[in-house]
Amino acid sequence: MMQLEATNLTKSYHEHEVVNIEKVAFGAMGLEGLIGPNGAGKSTLMGLLTRRIAPTSGSIKLSTDTGTKSLNPLRSHEVARIGLIKTNQRIQGFDSLTIRDSLRLAMTPPDAEGLKSIFAKTRDSDEVEEKVSYYVEAFPFTDREGHARSGGEKKLVDILRCLIAEPKLLLMDEPTAGLPDDITRKVMNMVREKVASGAMRVVVVEHDLPLIWEYCDYVHFLSEGSILFEGEPDEVKSNRVVAEKYMGV
Ligand SMILES: Nc1ncnc2c1ncn2[C@@H]1O[C@H](COP(=O)(O)OP(=O)(O)OP(=O)(O)O)[C@@H](O)[C@H]1O
Ligand SMILES: [Mg+2]
Repeated sequence: MMQLEATNLTKSYHEHEVVNIEKVAFGAMGLEGLIGPNGAGKSTLMGLLTRRIAPTSGSIKLSTDTGTKSLNPLRSHEVARIGLIKTNQRIQGFDSLTIRDSLRLAMTPPDAEGLKSIFAKTRDSDEVEEKVSYYVEAFPFTDREGHARSGGEKKLVDILRCLIAEPKLLLMDEPTAGLPDDITRKVMNMVREKVASGAMRVVVVEHDLPLIWEYCDYVHFLSEGSILFEGEPDEVKSNRVVAEKYMGV
């Protein structure tokens, strides 16, 4: 069991309310989509859920088989430690670490003391190296032993960093924007396999609707900061409100 639930969650910037959600729950299904127009508040919601952005009001709870925990008092690295992380829509940094080191780092448990625990031999190092190689070799990086070269490669490293960390619930913010089609499919197939094996649950934000319809078991529609509709892909696809507010039909 895995449920991430937000209740009466709001976020305002300078009096402007960008998120206002009575109730939403993620994690009930394997692969869920979160869609909505530009500026709907999707990235803000993901930031709120992972405690990277402080809410104006509202509560966020994570329930697993071992119990329910309020995320409100936690910081994002503590949220990560209990198994909830996100990929980033826009990538910054990564320039100082090689692709392999970024992935090695992701396999060490996030620590409040930050960089101190990097490369600490908390796991069997053969296991780490084997996993890192699996992910690096699955994709055509320009320089496998070096740094990510392009924006697309950095984005891919960010995604792989999250997959290799094996969270319980992974939020992906436009994972495939800026990636070539064949890489997008490879990433999504990898995600689907992990979800099918029961290793993790995933919520994906995407403007690529065919991809959402193809991969997601359940879809949430966000517009102007609120969840307006939720359902299986077919229901969402044929919903009038979604069509009017998003697809301009
Ligand atoms: N740090 C901030 N300060 C002020 N306004 C912000 C900030 N972050 C986001 N916003 C505003 O909040 C609204 C929601 O932004 P958000 O990035 O969450 O939308 P989104 O649904 O992810 O859009 P997109 O599909 O374009 O990525 C927008 O109007 C945006 O301008
Ligand atoms: Mg966004």
